[in-house]
Amino acid sequence: MKTGRSTPRSGERSVSFDAATNRVRLLDQRQLPHQVLWLHTADYRATARAIRDMVVRGAPAIAAAAYGLAQGIRAFRGRDLGKFGAHVRRVHRALLAARPTAVDPARAMEEVLAAIRAGHTVEERKALALAAAEEFAHRSAAECRALGEQGLPLIRTGMSVLTHCNAGRLACVDYGTATAPLYLAHERGRRFHVYCTETRPRSQGAALTAWELARAGIAHTLIADTAVGLLMQQGRVDLVLVGSDRVLGRTGHVTNKIGTYNLAVLAHRHGIPFYVAIPLSTLDWDLKSPSQIPIEERDPAEVRCARGVPLTRAARATVCEPVTVRVANPTSPVWNPAFDITPPELVTGVLTPAGIFKPNELWSQRRRLGYDRMISAAGPHQATRRFPVSG
Ligand code: MRU
Repeated sequence: MKTGRSTPRSGERSVSFDAATNRVRLLDQRQLPHQVLWLHTADYRATARAIRDMVVRGAPAIAAAAYGLAQGIRAFRGRDLGKFGAHVRRVHRALLAARPTAVDPARAMEEVLAAIRAGHTVEERKALALAAAEEFAHRSAAECRALGEQGLPLIRTGMSVLTHCNAGRLACVDYGTATAPLYLAHERGRRFHVYCTETRPRSQGAALTAWELARAGIAHTLIADTAVGLLMQQGRVDLVLVGSDRVLGRTGHVTNKIGTYNLAVLAHRHGIPFYVAIPLSTLDWDLKSPSQIPIEERDPAEVRCARGVPLTRAARATVCEPVTVRVANPTSPVWNPAFDITPPELVTGVLTPAGIFKPNELWSQRRRLGYDRMISAAGPHQATRRFPVSG
């Protein structure tokens, strides 16, 4: 994996593809907010590793798997369609296994696989693979922009919005999901306040959402995950707005970063509207029950440890690599599920590019929500499994 430093330009995507070198270009999210580092993955295995290790994370962004698939396909040498097919299946399996809970990468790769069937030769299929991956990325960015427009009426001057994890620009090809209405409302002069949760154990709220909001000039306050109850009890939250990794189109269950269910229960207790913002690729039309959703369990070290930069004056003066320190008693067993599931009765609305729907309306509205395009997508894939912590 090649790395490089440069500050992201406004509108620059954190995930893109360089066709000339056949590399996927990723903003290394493990380094933020301490330093801006770009990483160029040399082959599909490196792209799969980058997804697993959370160099790139967030459901729509890890649809970078589609670029990884195109990258693997383009690296094939030869003309034999049989061997080519076996190679494609190998690449697909490796990328699918990288993060099992989000459905977006599975959807994105299914589109690539469907597109290449139209090619008669290996070369034609290579070209179709890249075109399909690019098409998915552009559409995903456009959908985030569109859902931002749909969600704009929810954001009023003077209100306080609570968000969790990072469902921002970094988690998507562009705009973000939960942040898209916030960015648009801010651009249009509305003044509001955002509370972002720290989001242990990986701290996506503290490291990424806070960084994004600060760069956008949006007023915000970072809180510990455990402060949400008091914040709501004191009447300081008007709206909860989160993203999702998989919404079941048949039942309306919402899978999102661990702790989302806690927020939904608290919001319900305090009568606060709870909205989930998603592009259409986050809708899973296959699964019939939330018990079928694979919940990724990650390395116990994520809970035992914390990552950051030292606070010494010398270290502060220079950009420095984050380090991992142990916080917990090292011999205590740990359980580290990365996602939870919020039942539909706790969700006020699902904000999509096609409008805002009650979770139990999704199935009846499926034609407007891209069901026909996605019906051929892969079904449930991985069982729950463990992943190593990133270095
Ligand atoms: O483990 P992560 O950081 O990939 O989890 C991300 C989330 O849970 C986001 O809320 C979700 O992907 C929606 S992002 C638009």
